[in-house]
Amino acid sequence: MVQVAVLGYGTVGSGVVEVIEKNQQEISKRAGSEINVKYVLDLRDFPGDPIQEKVVHDADIILNDASVDVICETMGGIEPAYTFTKKALMSGKSVCTSNKELVAAHGPELIRIAKENNCNYLFEASVGGGIPIIRPLNNALTAERIDCVMGILNGTTNYILTKMEREGADFDEVLKEAQALGYAERNPEADVEGYDACRKIAILSSLVYGENVKYESIYTEGITKITPADFAYAKQMNKTIKLIGISCNNEDGKFAMVAPRMIGTESPLNCVQDVFNGILVHSNMLGDSMYYGRGAGKLPTASAVVGDVVDCVRNLGKHIGCIWDAKDAVLSDIGAFKQQYFVRAEGDAAARKAEVEGAFGEVSVVECPAVSGEFAFVTGKMSEDAYKAAAAKVSGIRSMIRM
Ligand code: HSE
Repeated sequence: MVQVAVLGYGTVGSGVVEVIEKNQQEISKRAGSEINVKYVLDLRDFPGDPIQEKVVHDADIILNDASVDVICETMGGIEPAYTFTKKALMSGKSVCTSNKELVAAHGPELIRIAKENNCNYLFEASVGGGIPIIRPLNNALTAERIDCVMGILNGTTNYILTKMEREGADFDEVLKEAQALGYAERNPEADVEGYDACRKIAILSSLVYGENVKYESIYTEGITKITPADFAYAKQMNKTIKLIGISCNNEDGKFAMVAPRMIGTESPLNCVQDVFNGILVHSNMLGDSMYYGRGAGKLPTASAVVGDVVDCVRNLGKHIGCIWDAKDAVLSDIGAFKQQYFVRAEGDAAARKAEVEGAFGEVSVVECPAVSGEFAFVTGKMSEDAYKAAAAKVSGIRSMIRM
């Protein structure tokens, strides 16, 4: 029997206990050994809960218990999760986590410590919740050269954008509803400003490049400025608007970015709706592959954590390779990243098209009867720097969304 401890009995931690209990037979068979939750660390007590007898308030009880082989860290945040994780790995206990903040901030160091101590630091649940994406990047796609990963990596913002599209509603109105339903946090900043998606694309980029992509170096824009008028234009163009984390390695360099984008029906990301996540990987032999499912929530996220526990149990005393060096990846300046832009400007298309084309080169005007007093156009493919230089020459630009 393998003894497991769960750090944090919140949504994901309680889900881990539930998954291990409900799927005990399947999990034991696949792990090759029965898995038992010996401890649950939490500041609180849970009277009446079957785990109450297992609750401890002192992490050292777990860290000093030689019978515990695997720890599920579902606390979130940097501290004390960082300190507990390091101590656990240094004593040869594997750690499985859903904690994207910690993985994005200290992933390479924790993987190295795990390697030095013949154990594992696994983090499938840190990106895309229950969707397998870390394991495909580490295992299934190792024969590929990956040139682009782009995805809807945040369920809260995808829920908000989907509802804005369906109901023609304002961002603020939908955010309030999402908060009332528990789909958005009371402090929604990390989701709506794109910080959560930024950490997730930093993790995916690091695995693709095998070097450390610092989340602080990723240009990040959230969804707070998206309006019903933007969706009206998107509909005219047979597109929708999604918050996309993108990491590309092309002839212009290596780029990573989080921003809202107009996504057409030709992309499988177009139909990823509500709280679902979707990650599209493009690689040179396979072409496109898509990973889709529930990117958040108790049981989907817990399932990914427990899947990692099974891997740890199968590999007790042995480090599973994961290439994520501490060396910082050199990302190119985002100013050189090329794409098309959807732009809204004051005035009338007929009167201003020549002026706009004088700055941007050829553009296509987007007619949208639902929006008055302005016009919109789509540029050709151009770099961020070229876009900024052109936009500075045109007066009355109201907004821009990348395509
Ligand atoms: N707030 C996150 C989301 C939770 O909405 O996707 C999962 O990481």
